[in-house]
Amino acid sequence: MCGIIAAVAKRDVADILLEGLQRLEYRGYDSAGIAIIDSEANFTRHRRLGKVQILADDVKEQNIKGGTGIAHTRWATHGVPSENNAHPHLSRQIALVHNGIIENHQALREDLIKKGYLFESETDTEVIAHLIDAEFERSGSLFDAVQTCIPKLKGSYAIVIFDITDPSRIIAARSGSPIVVGLGNGENFVASDQLALLHLTQRFMFLEEGDIAEITDKEIHVFNNLGDLVQREIQESNPEQDICEKGPFRHFMQKEIFEQPKALLNTIQGRLSETQVITPSFGTDAASIFSKIEHIQIVACGTSYNAGLTAKYWFESLSRVSCDVEIASEFRYRHFIARPNTLFLTLSQSGETADTLAALRLAKEKDFLCTMSICNVARSSLVRESDIVFLTHAGREIGVASTKAFTTQLIALLMLVTSIGKEKKHLDDKTELSIVQALHALPQHIEEALTFDKEIEKLAKNFTNKQHSLFLGRGALYPIAMEAALKLKEISYIHAEAYAAGELKHGPLALVDAQMPVVVIAPNNDLLDKLKSNIEEVRARGGELILFTDKTTAFQKDKNIKIIALPYVNELIAPIYFTVPMQLLAYHVALIKGTDVDQPRNLAKAVTVE
Ligand code: AGP
Repeated sequence: MCGIIAAVAKRDVADILLEGLQRLEYRGYDSAGIAIIDSEANFTRHRRLGKVQILADDVKEQNIKGGTGIAHTRWATHGVPSENNAHPHLSRQIALVHNGIIENHQALREDLIKKGYLFESETDTEVIAHLIDAEFERSGSLFDAVQTCIPKLKGSYAIVIFDITDPSRIIAARSGSPIVVGLGNGENFVASDQLALLHLTQRFMFLEEGDIAEITDKEIHVFNNLGDLVQREIQESNPEQDICEKGPFRHFMQKEIFEQPKALLNTIQGRLSETQVITPSFGTDAASIFSKIEHIQIVACGTSYNAGLTAKYWFESLSRVSCDVEIASEFRYRHFIARPNTLFLTLSQSGETADTLAALRLAKEKDFLCTMSICNVARSSLVRESDIVFLTHAGREIGVASTKAFTTQLIALLMLVTSIGKEKKHLDDKTELSIVQALHALPQHIEEALTFDKEIEKLAKNFTNKQHSLFLGRGALYPIAMEAALKLKEISYIHAEAYAAGELKHGPLALVDAQMPVVVIAPNNDLLDKLKSNIEEVRARGGELILFTDKTTAFQKDKNIKIIALPYVNELIAPIYFTVPMQLLAYHVALIKGTDVDQPRNLAKAVTVE
């Protein structure tokens, strides 16, 4: 989604802001812009369609100077991607960038037009600029103007504003979209994501919902939604954790796939003993809360939703607790009935996904036993607003296609399943021991799965001229087939559908012919014989089968069956293990197709709007 970076400094900030925008590219965008003033209030604005580099070349050529500025990458919501719609937007003296959506923009726009304002763009953002301008003209104070306008906005926003005749300060405000202030020496910065500022400072202040901050090069004054001056904690970043280089890898996605053994290890470390899952790692009250749980409601989006679907199989078979899983954008707009003693569980890499966050806020008003989130970003809104939090320690995930965040969510979920089962006395010591042993062994198994990279790269050639594909699985491997199809779709743009293999004959079999690659996740488990029948159904229709199996299943290759046979692993962890070759397959197909692997078209890393 959109990205913001801003600075108030004594030095020229154009390069700093552009580097910040480049660091935000992973979030997804279609245009970029920058506005800068120097100490004599000479003002310039540049906006370009396409990559930040195009804007950077332009800015360099013009040799833009000035120590106060705002910059933005836009991911179109209202109005097509175009230079006119790109931020910063201007209204007389006001320059403004915005992340989020203003839901009542139409009514505000009509009102402003009546007052004589002319609109240059189709965006909801321009409405905020004119609204603030009208108040600014009346009151003469930019801060007061922002404070007066904020209650008129419905929707979500992170905004940064300055007066183009006054280089001494910028104003930032947030509601529903994150804003972080970076503290420098005699200079200060603002961004929508800490990552944009890591080349400038290690000290950060995270604004809270409803905060408005006035920032000069020396001072930061934060006011809460009641207008009171407040102190927000200053936090030091952990440079090791925040590192975001590709290293020897060609793409962040590739790096993140290969980081999974370490990410999984980091996620279990200190939370598993040799024999047990340590329940207090879910919080000091976890044991007492878990013992009361009678139902689990999981809510998430995209890949995180697929992790939830996998966990449903585990919750009901291992901890013997019923579990529903729902897409957040559906959950938040339907009438749902909270069953007694239900744990409301959100899953999210970013912790800022608008629909998931909205679902959590809704759940907090209902009669749930407790809200919990499994999340990868410690300082996210979801983490701040949940009663119980379990952090996955995947490290920063830059590739839009989620990889290590998914497998670490799964390992976290399997630990949660075990803990709840144990606290409810539904799961015996022997089962817990076998889960814990399997979890300890998992990082090493993932290392082994990664050694199949070259073999999978060869296999990817089968997708070269394909438009469509099917992914099949059964049991807990069915959501993994869904995740595999999602990965292929999002980075290679090949249409991919996942089906529970038993469902094939109820319709999708009609699609199968020699042009249709059918990928089957087929490890050795109780459902293998059933799956074999489904495989025969495809084979009989001339489908091009690609089997991901293990060495104990003895499938025979032939000209229509390609096989990747991994070492056998305990079936409890097979969903996590088989995810890895699926990620490698999607990655290699995308390389063949020549797509933008880390920033696939139309997609954003954190979907902070509805
Ligand atoms: C995954 O590859 C996606 N890009 C996307 O589906 C993502 O999982 C979804 O937007 C949810 O994000 P979250 O985990 O940050 O909430």
